[in-house]
Amino acid sequence: MQAIVYRTYGSPDVLRCEEIERPVPASDEVLIRVHAASVNPFDWHFMRGEPYLFRLMTGLGKPKNPRLGADVAGTVEAVGKDVTRLRAGDEVFGAGRGSFAEYVCAPVSRLAVKPERVSFEQAAAVPIAALTALQALRDKGHVRSGHAVLVNGAAGGVGTFAVQIAKAFGARVTGVCSTRNLELVRGIGADDVIDYAREDLTTRAERYDIVLDLVGNRSLRAWRRVLKPNGTYVGAAGTTDPWMIGPLVQMMAAPVLSLFGSRKLVSLLASINTDDLALVVDLVASGKVTPVIDRRYPLREVPEAIRYLEAGHARGKVIIVRG
Ligand SMILES: NC(=O)c1ccc[n+]([C@@H]2O[C@H](COP(=O)([O-])OP(=O)(O)OC[C@H]3O[C@@H](n4cnc5c(N)ncnc54)[C@H](OP(=O)(O)O)[C@@H]3O)[C@@H](O)[C@H]2O)c1
Repeated sequence: MQAIVYRTYGSPDVLRCEEIERPVPASDEVLIRVHAASVNPFDWHFMRGEPYLFRLMTGLGKPKNPRLGADVAGTVEAVGKDVTRLRAGDEVFGAGRGSFAEYVCAPVSRLAVKPERVSFEQAAAVPIAALTALQALRDKGHVRSGHAVLVNGAAGGVGTFAVQIAKAFGARVTGVCSTRNLELVRGIGADDVIDYAREDLTTRAERYDIVLDLVGNRSLRAWRRVLKPNGTYVGAAGTTDPWMIGPLVQMMAAPVLSLFGSRKLVSLLASINTDDLALVVDLVASGKVTPVIDRRYPLREVPEAIRYLEAGHARGKVIIVRG
């Protein structure tokens, strides 16, 4: 089968589209024929082996696993011996390891059934981005109807889900993005938009119950100032600093700062699980959430897709299609 592989860490130039053996599912896995995959910053962190701390998990000198890609939607081709919940022919989506390929194996605990009315491309857009948005708002922010929610980075993969999921919870949403994305963010339901190129949001009088930060371009003290009493800042942004100095300092400072006053500063590491996948895909099937798809690239053009995402200005999700 065709798959994108990388045998050394580096820029998208290290990626190759090669013919490799089709994987065999472990006892708790299924083999999926990939119809669509989607690209996340997570993928280029793996590709570059950055932050360097990542390499403790992915291989110190070179990648232990040469396959790339996580989010996937496709058809179950075969199941492992302990799998009872899914069978060949089922249409599923979720996360595996190496979804930029014709076939990928994924554990059943990270998969859910794709409803018929949701397309493979829409389903492939969901896993990492939508579950990050959901878990940040619901589990960390404890979002409720009437809450004022600010999404910093509202036009990206996670942000476009966050705006819509916060609206589905009944929140009043303000999205922060650049001038060219104001209409997009309004169009997916934001009640208010802030153009970061023209306005410094921290100088506004408005205060928020939840700030979801997907950019990481301000200090925790600045974020604390825009929170209401009892408000929560959820930091979910990745970093381009390979040594992760800033994020490590923030991670240590957040619980200390949270001790003073009622405002909380927390961070999030999303996890993919069947229940949350099913919850979000139901929102998609019912029309409450519509995945925003920016571009589509065929499998052999994954390097271009990653280059585009790495530039930091994708509008919604970037999808990989067969071919
Ligand atoms: N913690 C977790 O578990 C987790 C999970 C998934 C993702 N993440 C992280 O979350 C972040 C967002 O992920 P993503 O998939 O949404 O990435 P993405 O799709 O690449 O997001 C790009 C978006 O960021 C916006 N942006 C860039 N600079 C901005 C600024 N100064 N102010 C406001 N918006 C700005 C861009 O909008 P404009 O073009 O309008 O500038 C663009 O729409 C990444 O850092 C990623 O690593 C974390």
